[in-house]
Amino acid sequence: MNFDLETSPKSHAYKLLVGLVAPRPIALITSMNEHGHLNAAPFSAYNYLCTDPPILGIGVTNKSGDGFVPKDTARNIRRTGEFVVNVVTEDIAQQMNICATDFPPEVSELEMAAFTTAPSLKIKVPRIAEAHAALECVEYTTMEIGRSRIILGRVVAMYVEDRYVDPEGPYIKADELHSIGRMNGLGNYVRTRDAFISIPRISYAEWKNGKR
Ligand SMILES: Cc1cc2nc3c(=O)[nH]c(=O)nc-3n(C[C@H](O)[C@H](O)[C@H](O)COP(=O)(O)O)c2cc1C
Repeated sequence: MNFDLETSPKSHAYKLLVGLVAPRPIALITSMNEHGHLNAAPFSAYNYLCTDPPILGIGVTNKSGDGFVPKDTARNIRRTGEFVVNVVTEDIAQQMNICATDFPPEVSELEMAAFTTAPSLKIKVPRIAEAHAALECVEYTTMEIGRSRIILGRVVAMYVEDRYVDPEGPYIKADELHSIGRMNGLGNYVRTRDAFISIPRISYAEWKNGKR
């Protein structure tokens, strides 16, 4: 089947892309408005983009409806310039999903999901205490493209629970962290527990010696 996204209904682009660019990591973002009110919401249009400097990107679509109303996360980041990406692991998946509920503004997603917070190292926005790892970010820039915003954040500090760090690298013990990935927009996710396969890189010298 072929799809011409220039002529298809706009909703097709979302439905197809989120099924094909998968699995995706999930950023459970904590942000703060100018009055200090905390917000939490998950975003899977998310990845790191480069490491020198350490920049990650997040795609946030405006709120559904006719107006150009940004989601609270995008608005907060524009106004206060800081956010935390809390890493989503199996044990906090249900709580992450509660944070995606469209609660009225006076209701705290963190409270509804029974999450607590812990201070960040370098920024005002706190991390989620139940998350095993968190990336503290300052807004590098926000691009408005159509009904969406692409937010680039510079990672200024990280928190990782000691047991998930191999100090040799330092590396993350990813096979023990049990992050989850989003597979589509239908509520489907993948676990990474016991799912690792190892494919070491091949140098050209090894290739010439017949290594495959
Ligand atoms: C796993 C998951 C991933 C999501 N990813 C995105 C995303 O990448 N971009 C987006 O605009 N909304 C995404 N959403 C929807 C937002 O989380 C949802 O609209 C949320 O209510 C926004 O909250 P806010 O207005 O407090 O920022 C996702 C929802 C879930 C459950």
